[in-house]
Amino acid sequence: MAPTFSPRSILLSALLLFSTNVLAISAVLGVDLGTEYIKASLVKPGIPLDIVLTKDSRRKEAATVAFKPSQHALQSGSYPERAYGSDAVALAARFPGDVYPNLKTLLGLPLGDSIVEEYAARHPSLQLEATKDRGTVAFKSKATEEEEAWMVEELLAMELQSIQRNAEALAGSDSVRSVVVTVPPFYTTDEKRAVELACELVGLKVLSLISDGLAVGLNYATSRTFPTVNEGGKPEYHMVFDMGAGSTKATILKFQGRTVKDTGKFNKTIQEIQVLGHGWDRTLGGDAFNYLIVDDMISKFVESPAAKKASVTAEGVRGHGRAMAKLLKEAERLRHILSANVDAAGSFEGLYEDVDFRYKVSRADFEKAAESHAERLGVVVQKALGVAELDIAQLDSIILHGGASRTPFVQKQLEDFAGGDKLRSNVNSDEAAVFGAGFRAAELSPSFRVKEIRVSEGAAYGAGMKWTNSNSKLQQQRLWTERSLLSAAPKEVTFTNREDFSVRFFQQVPSTEGFVEKETKEIKTKNLTATVASLVEKYGCSEADIQFKLQLKLATENGEVQVAKSFVECEAEAEKEGIMDGVKNLFGFGKNKDQKPLADGEESSENETTTTDASTTSSTVSAATPSSSSESAESAEAPKKRLVAIPVDYSTEKLGTPILSKADLTKGKDRLKAFETSDKARRLREETLNQLEGFTYKVRDLLDSDAFVAASTSKERAKLEKKASDASDWVYGDGADAPQKELKLRLKTLKDLVAPIQKRIDESSKRPELINALKGSLNQTNTWIQTIKDQIHEAEAYASSVSASATSSTEAASSVTEAPSQEAGDFGDLEDEQATTSTTTAVEDYGPAPPLYTLEDMKELTELYDSIMSWLEEKIAQQDKLPETADPVLLVKEITEKTKKLEKAGFKKNSSSKKSSKSKTKTKSATKTGKDGSQPTIDLNFGENGEMPSSEEIEEMIKRMAQEQNSKDETSKKHDEL
Ligand SMILES: *[C@@H]1O[C@H](CO)[C@@H](O)[C@H](O)[C@H]1NC(C)=O
Ligand SMILES: *[C@@H]1O[C@H](CO)[C@@H](O)[C@H](O)[C@H]1NC(C)=O
Ligand SMILES: *[C@@H]1O[C@H](CO)[C@@H](O)[C@H](O)[C@H]1NC(C)=O
Repeated sequence: MAPTFSPRSILLSALLLFSTNVLAISAVLGVDLGTEYIKASLVKPGIPLDIVLTKDSRRKEAATVAFKPSQHALQSGSYPERAYGSDAVALAARFPGDVYPNLKTLLGLPLGDSIVEEYAARHPSLQLEATKDRGTVAFKSKATEEEEAWMVEELLAMELQSIQRNAEALAGSDSVRSVVVTVPPFYTTDEKRAVELACELVGLKVLSLISDGLAVGLNYATSRTFPTVNEGGKPEYHMVFDMGAGSTKATILKFQGRTVKDTGKFNKTIQEIQVLGHGWDRTLGGDAFNYLIVDDMISKFVESPAAKKASVTAEGVRGHGRAMAKLLKEAERLRHILSANVDAAGSFEGLYEDVDFRYKVSRADFEKAAESHAERLGVVVQKALGVAELDIAQLDSIILHGGASRTPFVQKQLEDFAGGDKLRSNVNSDEAAVFGAGFRAAELSPSFRVKEIRVSEGAAYGAGMKWTNSNSKLQQQRLWTERSLLSAAPKEVTFTNREDFSVRFFQQVPSTEGFVEKETKEIKTKNLTATVASLVEKYGCSEADIQFKLQLKLATENGEVQVAKSFVECEAEAEKEGIMDGVKNLFGFGKNKDQKPLADGEESSENETTTTDASTTSSTVSAATPSSSSESAESAEAPKKRLVAIPVDYSTEKLGTPILSKADLTKGKDRLKAFETSDKARRLREETLNQLEGFTYKVRDLLDSDAFVAASTSKERAKLEKKASDASDWVYGDGADAPQKELKLRLKTLKDLVAPIQKRIDESSKRPELINALKGSLNQTNTWIQTIKDQIHEAEAYASSVSASATSSTEAASSVTEAPSQEAGDFGDLEDEQATTSTTTAVEDYGPAPPLYTLEDMKELTELYDSIMSWLEEKIAQQDKLPETADPVLLVKEITEKTKKLEKAGFKKNSSSKKSSKSKTKTKSATKTGKDGSQPTIDLNFGENGEMPSSEEIEEMIKRMAQEQNSKDETSKKHDEL
């Protein structure tokens, strides 16, 4: 026999193989985290970049979450209902203390920060607190009074979770766990960590953060190719001008193509985008324009006669959450009207202290009020150009992004700067960033292959380090400028320290007083002292020659300081060579791998070595480490000295805003989970409530239906009616807040009353037909039994007549007599084919067909027939005596069972058994056998061009295989049953 690999087990292993692949190919998310709106895009196998729609099918979600205060006291473990997006915004005027908008503004900032104070002033009903140990912003909620204040990161996490759920709905069953999030270029390390924390709280892995300008640029590049610079092309320079609700950013980008070596001897052209400079204004944006209108509204309102009469003060209005929420909402509406119209008007009923207010504003007035804002816009653009060292005339275009960039005076101002036709209006000013982020996510995920665009993010802030040198002197050195690229090769720094010490890194953040140094990270050596000692001991290095070196870089995904290498080095004497063989080239010096940035010399710091002296801080450009290392390796015999390097262990710690402790992080995650569980419980409760309500209506209909009345007693109906009307009263009264359990119980009570009556109706409607079917089967069985019996009798009669005439045919006799000698009941083994052949000859020559069965064989079937027959007769008699309102005794289920039993028994007798040989050949052909005849293989067709199949394709493939398998199983099963 061929190897016994069941096709099923092969299919199973193929499935496993696929499912691990399917897991790896999970969907990824791009999020454009705005002040006013959050947008998201999804990439999933088979679905190209697509916008994640909100629950109400919008392409963007207001970045707001709200807690709906519950009318009843919340039970422990349950939380108020949450609203997101526009639903949340709509609640602002009713519950201003529990609607949390524009959270992005607050991320990573301490409570005392001027931006936070401005926010608090604009939202007087919100209760801001400092988080314990961290000093960042948290909100005390009235709707969740028992709870500790909600950290701003937790609230943002809720918004992200809502988006994650929407994305999962779009992705199908896939869970969406990886994300690229846009951040403004001015986000410091603290602020970026706040975004990362919000993601972590809801289990989203941040593949990378990306500055919004670069995200827009990336989207711009997806559909374009740029001049190839190593074939004489000139790069293109564009500025992304991004004015959103909260802030304004200008980003200068360089776009170019480059031919690089591909696999084999082929070349390919890739696209490159490099951030040359950023400029920004943290508070200039749509919101600032809205506040201009709000301020004007308040001053006009206070001056209105009605308000004067009621002695309304501006402070009073500003401190009133509900009035402020209404004004802000209206101001935004009017501002949008002013973008297309010369004036706009609105009115408020009972705005404050029951005083009505009508307001009108013209575009001219608005623009006059915004004059100083227009000037700030110019500063942003100039700053970006300054960092990029470009003149505005060198820009190929200005790409507009962000809602507020559509404001007429903003566009006019930009046109004045840049001259005429540089504004690009053909770029999607709303969604370019979120598409760029989604594209980046796909690029970073191992599951997707996308057009090759290499991006180089800018550092945006200068950064440096401080440490105490071997002479106990505090030293400071700048390592990166605001123009540095995150993709740049590591910087190597040499220290004279030979004992364990620490280096603290900081960002230089501009402030009103020049710069503040915000600490970001500390790196502590752990075994420098020991390693230096071992260099002296084992390799005979003199201590003065020993240098400690750190290779430092900024992480491309979030700009954090990273150590690429940490080691001590000295030139050891050649005599000790033997020992050193294992040590030399411990590091891959000279291998610069893939992390080369745009290598046209502008940011190439690969061969820049900074040496720090004991007394002075000087930078020298020296020969690259690679050469010295490789030289010493190549000319092994000649030199007397060789370079020895040993890694040094170190630890890193985050500085700045204290990071959330492990315990607090767990607590935060648990709290969000509990909130979600509570949401789910509420949904389930509401479902049950609806079911109960619906069922009480159904009961009313049933009580009116003729069939139901006929099948039930008046007592039963009275009870049901009473229970249903009780339940219905209760649902609208005491039961409105009842827990799901109680609702379920009520529902069950009602259902239990209805079920038996419903059963009577169903049974009596189906019964007649099924009884007929069973009777039919009984008839057939009986006929068949009779036929066989007749055959047997005939054969017996013939046999006796033949023996009487004293001549016998051995052939016929053997076939007739041998069959009965078989074990009774073992029909499967009857070789009926042979029997038939011999019978045919017998028929022609020797009388009637010999029967296939003996009377003994028929016994089982006959008994079954008899028992079912008498059962049926008895039950029919019983059932006929019962009234319609009684529970039936002759049940559909039983009749069906008996019918099946009978049919199966009959089928068994009737069938032939050629199965075994046939099914075996089938099985064999289902699995191909490998060349050596032992390993079965399955052909798997992957997508065209050898690309990874999409998950749809995989699913399709699996389905097809499963179907084929099923039909094979089906055939073999049938055979088995024969
Ligand atoms: C690839 O590029 C290199 C240098 O840029 C060039 O010498 C070589 O001819 C190119 N190869 C092909 C196949 O075009
Ligand atoms: C210091 O730590 C590094 C990294 O763990 C290790 O490779 C090295 O051998 C250590 N040095 C000594 C002297 O143990
Ligand atoms: C690096 O080395 C190359 C060639 O040795 C030289 O042209 C370049 O100026 C050096 N760059 C720096 C930043 O020292």
